[in-house]
Amino acid sequence: MPDLVLGVSGSVACYRAADLARELMREGFSVRVCLTDSAARFVSPALFEALTGQPCLSDVFEEPERGRMAHIDWARSAAALVVAPATANTLSRLAHGLGDDMLTTIALAFEGPLVLAPAMNPAMYDHETTREALDRLTERGAWVVEPAEGEVACGEQGQGKLASIPEIVAAVLEATAHGSSLAGRHVLLTSGPTQEPIDDVRFLSNRSSGKMGAALARAALQMGARVTVVSGPVALGYPPQAEVVRVRTALEMLEAALSHVAQADLIVGVAAVADYRPAQRAPGKLRRQADTMALDLVANPDVIATLAGRAKPGALCVAFAAEPGEGLGPAYAKLKAKGVRAVAVNDVSQPGLGMEADENALTLVTESGEVASGRMSKSRLARWLLERLAGELG
Ligand code: CTP
Repeated sequence: MPDLVLGVSGSVACYRAADLARELMREGFSVRVCLTDSAARFVSPALFEALTGQPCLSDVFEEPERGRMAHIDWARSAAALVVAPATANTLSRLAHGLGDDMLTTIALAFEGPLVLAPAMNPAMYDHETTREALDRLTERGAWVVEPAEGEVACGEQGQGKLASIPEIVAAVLEATAHGSSLAGRHVLLTSGPTQEPIDDVRFLSNRSSGKMGAALARAALQMGARVTVVSGPVALGYPPQAEVVRVRTALEMLEAALSHVAQADLIVGVAAVADYRPAQRAPGKLRRQADTMALDLVANPDVIATLAGRAKPGALCVAFAAEPGEGLGPAYAKLKAKGVRAVAVNDVSQPGLGMEADENALTLVTESGEVASGRMSKSRLARWLLERLAGELG
């Protein structure tokens, strides 16, 4: 029976953690509960001990077995750490790596999936520091079960009510099932923009941030894959467990990706590769001269199409496409033109989605049809996409 640690922090909603513990047990998990000091003022450890048949801890020095360290034992054996309800204080402590109680020390020692179900006053949920903590935790791969809208315990209206128990259970099942669907696979990603030099100080480029590539790298690692990212210049960092090859131009991206393609099982072209580069790179700095100026451009190679032609038999090669809301015809055409088995289509006509944004929506187009994700964070979307691609890989 897989173990779970259920961390309960001090929101009025912590009475609902008892129901959550029972539902998780019904799904076949053995649940160990850990209370923060504030939660222990709302609910008694005895309640959870009676429900789960396991010791319930809150003090890091309180050892149920002499000579052992429960925070390490619990962290090593858990298939997931679920924090529900997660208060603003606990989210910030988790985001900043504090280890000042049992729950946060377990979290520091824990390497598996973290599921967070925030519950708090809507203003606290909207507070910049709470949003930053959640962004940071999401970036590190946490599953966040968003709180519901409605009237919260203090009587105010807004988003802050603990999500429903079935929603939290579904996230836990997803997080724990997800661990191994790419185990033993090598995932090769191209990511970010390319920069095509005009002279020594100027280049042609685009607004790609690399966020989707970073989210896919994180999700693939969580699913057990070995990950190589060939990335153009981006400000963000990729997960430290990924092998990252930094390049600038499309030609460099192609060369670097080609040196990894023979081992790759799944190849995803997330990069926004410049289709053209200046025919000549001017030495030094071009000076202003006439009122108009023409720049000669030549076509870059198509990186993902070249990789698709060199991939090993059985490998799955996937392109991304930015389509301005004109239907999926061009995406089906790209399947053939690029020789890829799937195209993940971004509708760039919708405000707040796609390049630079934190949210996105994709339609995955394959020979056998299309499936749409709906709008979600890039982290969730990365998992959504990789689950489907892992299914295609077989
Ligand atoms: N791509 C590539 N090398 C290029 C151009 C694009 O690898 N020189 C890849 C991108 O990484 C992405 C997909 O091809 O996976 C995008 O295809 P593209 O034909 O550029 O489509 P759009 O960006 O949607 O734009 P358009 O059809 O307008 O060219």
